[in-house]
Amino acid sequence: MQSSIATKQNTFADDVLRGLSATPKFLSSKYFYDDEGSRLFQEIMKLPEYYLTRAEFEIFSTRTKEIFAAFTEKSKSFDLIELGAGDGTKTAVLIDYFLKQTADFSYLPIDISQEAIDFLTGKFKNEFPHLSMNAKTGDYFRILETLKTESKRAKIILFLGSNIGNFSKAQAQDFFRQLRGVMNENDLLFVGFDLQKDPRVILQAYDDAQGVTAAFNLNLLTRINRELGANFNTNDFSHYAVYRPVECAARSFLISRRAQTVSVEALNKSFEFAAWEPIFMEISQKYNQEMIGDLALASGFLATQNFFDERKFFVDSLWKVSL
Ligand SMILES: C[S@@+](CC[C@H](N)C(=O)[O-])C[C@H]1O[C@@H](n2cnc3c(N)ncnc32)[C@H](O)[C@@H]1O
Repeated sequence: MQSSIATKQNTFADDVLRGLSATPKFLSSKYFYDDEGSRLFQEIMKLPEYYLTRAEFEIFSTRTKEIFAAFTEKSKSFDLIELGAGDGTKTAVLIDYFLKQTADFSYLPIDISQEAIDFLTGKFKNEFPHLSMNAKTGDYFRILETLKTESKRAKIILFLGSNIGNFSKAQAQDFFRQLRGVMNENDLLFVGFDLQKDPRVILQAYDDAQGVTAAFNLNLLTRINRELGANFNTNDFSHYAVYRPVECAARSFLISRRAQTVSVEALNKSFEFAAWEPIFMEISQKYNQEMIGDLALASGFLATQNFFDERKFFVDSLWKVSL
């Protein structure tokens, strides 16, 4: 299983080799977002079961003024840097308000998916013709290192949509420590955390009735077929999700429905699957307020303000660097 963020330098092929050779087998969820994966994720965000996007959208829509006041308390001019920006639907609410306040800022979205970046920049250029925008496609771990020197103004780093939930607690701490390393005294971090709630509500978000989440997971096998010359038959795998309340995490798996051998041309290698053997695909860690405060402290930050939706399903937590 993935143990360290240090894997960032690996290529898709290296990561697939490592994951399918491991016991238990795993694949990294950062590879979900090829063109089809990004399209399927946009569908997921509209599903009735996927409360996360609506809850965070509610926070952005109802608390815009306070968020802006908190962002501009120390520095009136800033770079708004978004890690894993996706389609930017929620961020658009903030940007629209910031522009109306004639705020002095630039927007720097970063995403590993070219499709996501193309969609976002097309939409924002159209919606916000006066927005100063500098989008980057790539792994945010790599791009981060360049930010310290590239961004001359105060940085406000957005990490929304429970992206952080895709890291284990140890990986999350490691990630925030790295971020802390490229941040200065007046920089801020704004992180979206999905909160603990009725386990049944959480589980449904990762196991929707229409099977879009299943298709989203299976699409990674199709991507391996296309990009690495593998011969996965997606009908021979089924999606399975669980929520473990003690660990406070949902986990998604693809289960091999029969004993089978899959070959991957680019790796010059075959992989054996036993009947009902799982591939671990994704963790979705859930938090409570205490866990968030502890995580901030352990990684060199102070959680200064929390913005909740009305049902307390989700929180956007504002962190400043602790000196
Ligand atoms: C769960 S979506 C969230 C999108 C958006 N932040 C939102 O809240 O709707 C995750 C996004 O992060 C991107 N992503 C995942 N891992 C990444 C990485 N290592 N580097 C850059 N982008 C990444 C994906 O391409 C995808 O667009």
